[in-house]
Amino acid sequence: MLVDMRTRKSGGMPEYYRTTYEKWYGWFSHVYDPFVRSMLFLINGGFGGERRLRQQAIDWLEPRPGDRVLDICSGTGTMTIMIGKQLAGQGEVLGVEISPAQLRVARKKRKPAGVTFIQADAQNIPLPDTSFDKANIFGALHEMPREVRRKVLSQAFRVLKPAGNLVVTEHNNPDSKWKASLFDFSERFNPEYPTYKDMLECGLTNEIEHAGFRVVKTRTDAHEFFQTVLAQKQIR
Ligand SMILES: C[S@@+](CC[C@H](N)C(=O)[O-])C[C@H]1O[C@@H](n2cnc3c(N)ncnc32)[C@H](O)[C@@H]1O
Repeated sequence: MLVDMRTRKSGGMPEYYRTTYEKWYGWFSHVYDPFVRSMLFLINGGFGGERRLRQQAIDWLEPRPGDRVLDICSGTGTMTIMIGKQLAGQGEVLGVEISPAQLRVARKKRKPAGVTFIQADAQNIPLPDTSFDKANIFGALHEMPREVRRKVLSQAFRVLKPAGNLVVTEHNNPDSKWKASLFDFSERFNPEYPTYKDMLECGLTNEIEHAGFRVVKTRTDAHEFFQTVLAQKQIR
């Protein structure tokens, strides 16, 4: 079995997952931003690699004046703030993040008007149904055990308005064998390795569709190490 599914539940969250990430982000939050910048410098065309990957996702999200946008698992807030800048005070963007350490970094950053953060488990987003126009999840699902991933996607579905857009950016399994092996090797030193493998095996688009979305388009970037999916909430 790829994922440790011994779910000794703690507040609805598998113990393995909760304790791993509480400890992990306790220290990793201090170096998270430079780490992501350096990784995307290496694999996404040098300087500006991170910004380009993030901006492509935002281009698909298409934040418009008056929109309410939810950034699910917002981490240190980089995407939340970029979306907020694009809205230029003419809309709202809310980051939902579980890790207090990640949130502390996010809250210290300069934010444009309309950007806020809350601490919450994305498996149970404490916000009403159909209250957002758009939702974004950047680089978070691969850290989650299967049942958590699926709950988070179904929460994204619940809070979006009918026909609302969801953009998900995630790790990808490159077609090229040597690239796939390289990425697999680098991930082995990371606590997310089992869930990352499980997400790729289940198929990101399958899981997004399973939550009720229609996949509109997909792309790969950064030498196929990342995939982005634009999906739309189907009216049931
Ligand atoms: C790799 S980081 C990505 C952060 C951010 N989206 C970005 O673009 O940099 C994954 C984030 O998901 C958060 N996360 C994981 N599980 C979560 C959950 N169930 N609810 C809310 N946040 C969660 C982690 O704490 C972490 O900050």
